[in-house]
Amino acid sequence: MLGFTNTSIETQFASGGGGRKERRKRNRKICIYFTILLILLIFIVFLILGFTIFKPKRLITTFDSITVEHLQSSLDPVSVRFILNLTLHVNLSLKNPNHVGFSYDSSSALLNYKGQLIGEAPLPANRVGPEETQPINLTLTLMADRLLSESQLFNDLMVGVIPLNTFVKVSGKVRVLKIFKLKVQSSSSCDLAISVLNRNVTSQNCTSQIK
Ligand SMILES: *[C@@H]1O[C@H](CO)[C@@H](O)[C@H](O)[C@H]1NC(C)=O
Ligand SMILES: *[C@@H]1O[C@H](CO)[C@@H](O)[C@H](O)[C@H]1NC(C)=O
Ligand SMILES: *[C@@H]1O[C@H](CO)[C@@H](O)[C@H](O)[C@H]1NC(C)=O
Ligand SMILES: *[C@@H]1O[C@H](CO)[C@@H](O)[C@H](O)[C@H]1NC(C)=O
Ligand SMILES: *[C@@H]1O[C@H](CO)[C@@H](O)[C@H](O)[C@H]1NC(C)=O
Repeated sequence: MLGFTNTSIETQFASGGGGRKERRKRNRKICIYFTILLILLIFIVFLILGFTIFKPKRLITTFDSITVEHLQSSLDPVSVRFILNLTLHVNLSLKNPNHVGFSYDSSSALLNYKGQLIGEAPLPANRVGPEETQPINLTLTLMADRLLSESQLFNDLMVGVIPLNTFVKVSGKVRVLKIFKLKVQSSSSCDLAISVLNRNVTSQNCTSQIK
């Protein structure tokens, strides 16, 4: 008799203590879930802000000045071909409108004649500080191995104006909220008219493309 009540009391105690423990465990679980939910919400809010209000802007590439450093056309008496020697000095600026630094990959400035690549100058990878404008000067030289279309070049030399195009594309990564990296790209292109007689740039139309 006595032994039976003892065990029943013991089992009661055991089950009562277990219920309290479980309730505490459940409360702790709810607390953890709420904390995770809250962190997730804050994360999502920052993500939305990062890609809207604080969205990083692209670098602004601009051709500041393009000048003719060397220009000489001659008729090669052996091959009876026109030879063009041309060197342009290009001043470029990279403006970073962001409040954070911008690192860009190495690329090249290109020189084109009627859609044909005739010259190239390397633009090494670098970093532009926040709200900084980085001046870059480049020298674009007509590559010796590039044969220009004889009839087109002859026409242009007769007219006295050589149409050229310079193009530069810069791509790099910018940090959003110091966590994410976003890849952005910008480019600039200039159509030039170069006077053969005066050896200068007589007209230039530049456009910046933002992608
Ligand atoms: C731009 O080019 C001119 C010469 O054409 C040079 O004197 C000047 O320093 C250059 N500016 C920059 C920022 O490179
Ligand atoms: C062009 O840049 C080089 C190297 O950054 C520098 O030594 C040179 O003086 C610059 N020239 C001009 C005209 O700005
Ligand atoms: C013109 O360019 C060619 C090839 O680059 C070179 O051999 C030649 O000396 C240059 N001529 C002049 C007058 O600069
Ligand atoms: C620049 O644009 C003007 C007006 O559209 C045009 O007359 C001129 O020929 C263009 N120059 C070049 C180099 O494309
Ligand atoms: C090109 O050079 C000629 C002669 O030096 C000058 O009269 C003309 O104004 C120059 N053109 C430009 C656009 O600088």
